[in-house]
Amino acid sequence: MNEWITIAMPKGRIFEEAATLLRKANYPLPDDFSFGRKLIVEAPEAGMKFFLAKPMDVATYVEHGVADIGVAGKDVLMEEQRDVYEVLDLNISACYLAVAGLPGERREQVAPKVATKYPNVATQYFKEQGEQVEVITLNGSIELAPLIGLADRIVDIVSTGQTLKENGLVELETIEAVTSRLIVNPVSYRMKDQRIDEIVERLSQIVEGGES
Ligand code: PRP
Repeated sequence: MNEWITIAMPKGRIFEEAATLLRKANYPLPDDFSFGRKLIVEAPEAGMKFFLAKPMDVATYVEHGVADIGVAGKDVLMEEQRDVYEVLDLNISACYLAVAGLPGERREQVAPKVATKYPNVATQYFKEQGEQVEVITLNGSIELAPLIGLADRIVDIVSTGQTLKENGLVELETIEAVTSRLIVNPVSYRMKDQRIDEIVERLSQIVEGGES
């Protein structure tokens, strides 16, 4: 067997979609391939070892080289600016970053408060817009902030739009489209170049062939 490749993956839907892509690329993952409560799962026939990580942490594992490659959302890569190579748009888990607020939120307000788990993205975006805002960092349930008066607006991921809708919020501006990306540790790319090139090539054929 070739050398092992370690892969950091976010749990949930991205993991499921990435596993489907790997199978389509003819990497034999076990039939019962899932994490349950386990944090490390091996696919020996594919020579792959998977770590289950929080989405925001995937690029950290890859940057430190404990994972050779990883699957990370463009939102996380924009926020964290890690020293990793972004080699392939996997075109899965499509969503987008947007500004939202309560209907009628006064856009001309001076230094409105913006709640987000993407403080760097939000700061950069409003700077580019020439608007002064106060960014408040939260770790989740961002939509709560305008409802209870913590913030005037939010910057967050919109996927189906259901969370905004059910909380009576409206989208005000679109910031950036988001999909999951394959990222690679620069040292791993040199040390395991053949295996990683093969993974990138096989996955890109699936993605570009529209099979994802
Ligand atoms: C994400 C995001 C939104 C929601 C958008 O939250 O932060 O809240 O999904 O999805 P929708 O447009 O399909 O409703 P997540 O579920 O990751 O939880 P979080 O609140 O802990 O960030």
